[in-house]
Amino acid sequence: MKIGIIGGTGGMGEGLAMRWCLNHNVVIGSRDTERAINSSISFSKVVAEAYGSAMKGDISGNENIAMVKDCDLLVLSIPYDYIDDICGKISSIVKENCIIVSPIVPMKKSNDGFEYIPMKENTKSAAERVASKIQHRSRIVSALHTISEVKLKHLDEIIDCDVFVCGDDVNTTNIVIKLIEEINGLRPLYLGSLSMSYQAEMMTPMLLNASKLNKIKHPGLKIV
Ligand SMILES: NC(=O)c1ccc[n+]([C@@H]2O[C@H](COP(=O)([O-])OP(=O)(O)OC[C@H]3O[C@@H](n4cnc5c(N)ncnc54)[C@H](OP(=O)(O)O)[C@@H]3O)[C@@H](O)[C@H]2O)c1
Repeated sequence: MKIGIIGGTGGMGEGLAMRWCLNHNVVIGSRDTERAINSSISFSKVVAEAYGSAMKGDISGNENIAMVKDCDLLVLSIPYDYIDDICGKISSIVKENCIIVSPIVPMKKSNDGFEYIPMKENTKSAAERVASKIQHRSRIVSALHTISEVKLKHLDEIIDCDVFVCGDDVNTTNIVIKLIEEINGLRPLYLGSLSMSYQAEMMTPMLLNASKLNKIKHPGLKIV
């Protein structure tokens, strides 16, 4: 599968690229082509050492919009504020069956701690905001909100965490679930349709508050 990560130069993109390149061709996207290529070169060095000949895929870099038309799956690894801009630009050029994954957490820090923006400001969840800009709602899957980039980047550590997955179309959602299962120790839990995504998204500010106040590094979530 060809996986494009829009905003892949950030920590989340780095972590996902380093995991998924084991089996897939991953493209790091950026607004700046040179930044994308430099990031891909730097991530490739790390994974080559970690995986050696076990690696079946690779990591390359390209400008966000230039890579979109070739990808089977796109991860929107960008901050909440830029959803309208990026989705407006890619909506008409994505491949017909391209899956769009949103790990986006609408979150800000106040004096009380990390807060979930849609609840404080009566705005849409990240997934609903993506859906308002992307033509085919059934191709959108919301996932991966509660996994820390640091856990993804520590390739020698086994992750023992759950992430929630929301989507309207069963087949599309199952493709993303399988992709998440490829990340050793990460358990995807289906949480229902895209309209339920807010429940997954709002877990992240909660985790970060608990982490900060109780001195837990790189918190994760596991339902038992
Ligand atoms: N980090 C985590 O542990 C984590 C965990 C769960 C979910 N998430 C979610 O995953 C997403 C990515 O997280 P992150 O920590 O990697 O974010 P980030 O570092 O803040 O941003 C990711 C990338 O977004 C691009 N970007 C910045 N401003 C932009 C703009 N105005 N328009 C278009 N692109 C812009 C930048 O890439 P270029 O400058 O190269 O274009 C940047 O490298 C976020 O929505 C976050 O809520 C993160």
